[in-house]
Amino acid sequence: MNKDIESILVNESELDALTERLAARIDEDYRDTGRPLVMVCILKGSVMFYVDLIKKIRRPVEMEFMKVSSYGAGTASSGCINLHLDLKRTDYPSLDVILVEDIVDSGRTLSMLTALFRERKVHSIATCTMLDKPSRREVDFAPDYAGLSIPDKFVVGYGLDYNEYYRDLPYVGILKPEVYTNH
Ligand code: PRP
Repeated sequence: MNKDIESILVNESELDALTERLAARIDEDYRDTGRPLVMVCILKGSVMFYVDLIKKIRRPVEMEFMKVSSYGAGTASSGCINLHLDLKRTDYPSLDVILVEDIVDSGRTLSMLTALFRERKVHSIATCTMLDKPSRREVDFAPDYAGLSIPDKFVVGYGLDYNEYYRDLPYVGILKPEVYTNH
């Protein structure tokens, strides 16, 4: 285990089961729609989860990527989000879209992105997150698909970072407090 990790919160086999479970639910819900299913990876944190998830979905999916940052403490509207990388499509009304995140914290990012895709008049919009921290919520938001609800601990690994480190760990671990309190 990495020396900066206090304990493993979700190990590799648990992550495998979690992605399998979510993929099966998505397959069930989007079977025979006759529409493209677009899975949107919200960079960077969701990369590992996203790749493992879409490999387990049996129906065809399209891959898209977004990079966003939110700002301000305003209400959850698409007006408070910076889009650093966006989809370039003209066929929104024909699409079922699922936004894929590593973690939901305040809820602002997915709340604002959901509003954005509603404005784009997609056929449907849903959200899928590996981890959920409901105790941190600042806006009224609930993901449609959530792998695991976790306590308010500083978690890293499997895409999640602290100062860009630890994203490459194959598990989700709790970071030792001395790592982030000494900086
Ligand atoms: C994290 C995470 C979500 C967002 C969740 O991204 O990946 O996008 O924060 O927080 P919220 O619910 O409070 O909006 P971050 O900005 O750390 O970027 P990264 O994915 O590139 O690490």
